[in-house]
Amino acid sequence: MKRHRKALETTARELVAEGKGILAADESNRTMTKRLESVGVESSEEARRRFRELLFTTPGAEQHISGVILYDETIRQSTSDGTPFPEFLATRGMSPGIKVDSGAKPLAGFEGETVTEGLDGLRERLAEYRELGARFAKWRAVIAIGEDRPSRACMSANAHALGRYAALCQEAGIVPIVEPEVLMDGDHTIERSEAITRATLRDVFGELLDQRVLLEGIVLKPNMVLSGYSCARQAGVEEVAERTLALLRQVVPAAVPGIAFLSGGQGDELASGHLSAMNSIGGVPWELSFSYGRALQAAPLEVWGGEESQAAEAQAAFAHRARCNGEARFGRYSEELEQALPL
Ligand code: 13P
Repeated sequence: MKRHRKALETTARELVAEGKGILAADESNRTMTKRLESVGVESSEEARRRFRELLFTTPGAEQHISGVILYDETIRQSTSDGTPFPEFLATRGMSPGIKVDSGAKPLAGFEGETVTEGLDGLRERLAEYRELGARFAKWRAVIAIGEDRPSRACMSANAHALGRYAALCQEAGIVPIVEPEVLMDGDHTIERSEAITRATLRDVFGELLDQRVLLEGIVLKPNMVLSGYSCARQAGVEEVAERTLALLRQVVPAAVPGIAFLSGGQGDELASGHLSAMNSIGGVPWELSFSYGRALQAAPLEVWGGEESQAAEAQAAFAHRARCNGEARFGRYSEELEQALPL
């Protein structure tokens, strides 16, 4: 029996509460610098803080956002009036989370493949993050599809690390978001995406069970099953929804409370459309939710562009995306909703 069983189950269920999903705002400084520079903003600690603050303080965000994943720098930052971000989020009913992996690093002997690192010292870091207010965590494993990829070694090393991470999180009373991302970059077919995603998830759940992870106290964050982004045949929304759900039914135990998809570089509208189509089909034992980074932030980032005069409009753009995805949780995302003026 796990020590934190009840708290883990409650937090996991809250993260995938009806009509809500997770904002992934845990870009490393390197990634955030790329994002900021893409809209002409120089990346400083203050610029990163300000953009995150703008998102977190968006009026009404808590209606559709259940939790926010932070980065090590961000969890130590505060709002302009001095309230630490974790405290600010928790007070508004959004659970603070933390990315705890230290990134996907080249896998020795396997060119073009990576293994996610960060297990050394993780127990101690989790204890500190919990003190700072984190209630859940994230670890992203990356599986790339190519001619001879993924290798068995890459899949098993990543699945094993996810299992070790998840077990350590639960020991600390922190809900692990288990994220095995099969990348959709490449010209592979949707059938290949499906086969690799199936094999990846089988490995991951094998490890979670072997390592005595409480499935009721995790959130799974997988990719959707899509055609490779450069594949000549691009599957439509219905096909993506049907294939993704059929596959998840085969490999994700019903004990898991929720599945929060990553957006993985899909356009904003497709990310909402696919999620909505899956919720329309329904008939699954888990909540079908979102844990989007780019698909929630790209629009507000573009509108903001580092200009304070644009802050309110950027917040409106974020609120709009959060609402579109919140409605997608009920299968109610539509072209009409997309075109509706931000509230
Ligand atoms: P995207 O939705 O941009 O894929 O980001 C989600 C995430 O947290 C990736 O680890």
